[in-house]
Amino acid sequence: MNSSKVVVALDFPNATTALSLAEQLDPDGCRVKVGKELFTRSGPEVVRQLVDMRFDVFLDLKYYDIPNTVAHACAAAADLGVWMVNVHASGGRKMMEAARKTLSGEDAPLLIAVTVLTSMDQSDLLELGIDRSPAEQVLRLAQLAEASGMDGVVCSPQEITLLRNKISPQFRLVTPGIRPAGTAHGDQKRIMTPAEAVKLGSDWLVIGRPITAATEPLAALSAINRELDG
Ligand code: C5P
Repeated sequence: MNSSKVVVALDFPNATTALSLAEQLDPDGCRVKVGKELFTRSGPEVVRQLVDMRFDVFLDLKYYDIPNTVAHACAAAADLGVWMVNVHASGGRKMMEAARKTLSGEDAPLLIAVTVLTSMDQSDLLELGIDRSPAEQVLRLAQLAEASGMDGVVCSPQEITLLRNKISPQFRLVTPGIRPAGTAHGDQKRIMTPAEAVKLGSDWLVIGRPITAATEPLAALSAINRELDG
């Protein structure tokens, strides 16, 4: 049974490097995330290979399209055997409900929504005609995602408390922007340690470079798992 809360972001430009990193990890001690770059370069085959290696795969393609198209894309993701897939909450209730209807079986992947991209601030929202703060918009979209049957949302660690106070405890929170104490921040600005994020109520932590760029990725992952277990 995989009890780890860590999802390792395999942000690599090709399948060879992604798979060689994955080979150094333990599929019972983490999960992995395949995003747009790796998927666009290497296609579904790299996902199949990771699934064959017994990894739970989060396919992070953030679908946003008309309901019919998103539902079919979700079905294709489920056919690949992924553990989690995501859509943009901004695609609206009908789109999310169509995705939910497709992914309704017992073995269906978890279905997660993206609210406001953490790269966007108030002025970006205003330019889109949204006259409210990013936090207000995050809450609004998270509540819509919950009402549309999503299993949870991707959110920044700074949003965990807001969402945990307003949304049911079963709603899953998936948080990037995590940095173990003493590791490089890179381009992440507002960060939290793994233990802090879990204490506030995060269910899964998406962590890339602190593991993938470590000299010993398995040791870096094990240290994070130990921090969380302790
Ligand atoms: O290397 P690092 O730990 O910063 O990787 C974080 C991962 O989470 C990357 O795949 C990044 O694209 C993703 N992500 C993020 N911030 C968001 C949404 C996704 O860092 N708001």
